[in-house]
Amino acid sequence: MTNDSPTTPTVAIVGGGVIGGGWAARFLLHGWRVQIHDPHPQAKERIEAVLDNARLSLPALADFPLPPEGELVYTDSPGEAVANASWIQESVPEDLGIKHRVIAEIEKHAPDTAIIGSSTSGFKPSELQEGAANPGRILVAHPFNPVYLLPLAEVVGGPAIDVDIRDRACEILSSIGMKPLVVRTEIDAHIADRFLEAVWREALWLINDDIATTEEIDDAIRYGFGLRWAQMGLFETYRLAGGEAGMAHFIAQFGPCLQWPWTKLTDVPDLTDELVDKIATQSDRQSGDYSIRELERIRDRNLVGIMRALKDRNWGAGAVLAEHDKRLAKVQPVAATVDDTGPVRMPDISVLPAWIDYNGHMTEFRYVQVFSDTCDRLLVMIGMDADYVAAGCSYYTAETHTMQLDEVGANERIYSTAQVLLADTKRLHVFYRMHAAADDRLLATTEAMYLHVDRDSGRVCEADPRLVANAKAIADAHANLPRPDAAGRFVGQRKQD
Ligand SMILES: NC(=O)c1ccc[n+]([C@@H]2O[C@H](COP(=O)([O-])OP(=O)(O)OC[C@H]3O[C@@H](n4cnc5c(N)ncnc54)[C@H](O)[C@@H]3O)[C@@H](O)[C@H]2O)c1
Repeated sequence: MTNDSPTTPTVAIVGGGVIGGGWAARFLLHGWRVQIHDPHPQAKERIEAVLDNARLSLPALADFPLPPEGELVYTDSPGEAVANASWIQESVPEDLGIKHRVIAEIEKHAPDTAIIGSSTSGFKPSELQEGAANPGRILVAHPFNPVYLLPLAEVVGGPAIDVDIRDRACEILSSIGMKPLVVRTEIDAHIADRFLEAVWREALWLINDDIATTEEIDDAIRYGFGLRWAQMGLFETYRLAGGEAGMAHFIAQFGPCLQWPWTKLTDVPDLTDELVDKIATQSDRQSGDYSIRELERIRDRNLVGIMRALKDRNWGAGAVLAEHDKRLAKVQPVAATVDDTGPVRMPDISVLPAWIDYNGHMTEFRYVQVFSDTCDRLLVMIGMDADYVAAGCSYYTAETHTMQLDEVGANERIYSTAQVLLADTKRLHVFYRMHAAADDRLLATTEAMYLHVDRDSGRVCEADPRLVANAKAIADAHANLPRPDAAGRFVGQRKQD
């Protein structure tokens, strides 16, 4: 999943509005080459605006860097967009005639192996597949706005789908951090939008009948049950509402109200000009002075915060993020090389947005983390792998001294280096530097002494000769490098000119 590999996967996005732009961002930030087609004269500006939002928020969900961004290409026709694509996502307006025309065009030019996903909120896959040359590869992949943050994609194949293709589609969606939910039986509006429409209908009645304003309705959701739904959904929440007696008791208690009924769910108020104007006026008042762009950013920051909290608890949408982190961690950076021209340079990494503190730059303990990760890489280089540690010995940190020299902001690329000052049978003395990749600016240094320890007894012991030899080879290569001025410094010592 890198942008410079010959195996870089390609996605075609046909229709680049709110949803197509969100898909483009999610794929692009996971290293895919993205080929977009949208005939709208402002399509490019609109997509770039979605991308800007995504770049600010999506990386903040992960505790590992995303792969390097893929290449984004704007094309003049759907045919050009789908060339070499392994996934094609149709996100044109919700009109079956337009979707049929676009899918026919896609089928004419797409590689035989490409999966064709549709973002449709309401149409069944069998409706989309009507008249298709190969209906078995056309499925609904219904996402939620903002597509670059929310993990859910409802995957609906219908009776004609090739099940292997549907499974492959789910794998691809997982690989870009999504949670594919297979909808086993096709139905108008799939699963989630059935609820949303039901809730929306009821809300329209409450406004129509002057019971509540848009703001009061939103408050009723966001201060209460919306928070419960975000982490447990409907049924698990109601299970708890039934107390120890559980779900059966809950149904016995509240089931009868379904017969009264409290709601007007099956009816819908006429969307007269008057009602539309009333809702729009209330909505404008509710959002105050915030522009759409500002509201999007507020929404994204809130979503990142909520989902990260769930990630700490490995729960719901947060569990999807935790699983995705494991995938991202496996994208191994290129190995560092040792020579006598300078310290060992480790691969560049990104300062993740989650590493930024209230001062607006990388927080203190992340400096420690970066140097600690650098140490782990160095130890792996000399041969201290998981088997070595499992066999009973490891290097323990005995002493460190860190100097914070400059600030670094979110998404900046940085790299660290390791200069081995001493390696003997029991000790490893290393001087690390952290630099900004853009201009090599020195950001921080750490000097560290590690002792080789028998983990059972907790006592210092001699390292395996293989490790000692490897560590000494690096120390020898570094023997003629200038000794760092800051080596051996103590806290509070005046800086040398
Ligand atoms: N907005 C949502 O919250 C949401 C959520 C999930 C799914 N969806 C579904 O996603 C699809 C797109 O919805 P949207 O909200 O992004 O709409 P949108 O109006 O924001 O975007 C549609 C885009 O399609 C482009 N388009 C029109 N004809 C085209 C063609 N022939 N070829 C290529 N592009 C063309 C338009 O220029 C426009 O930019 C719909 O099927 C909708 O049901 C929407």
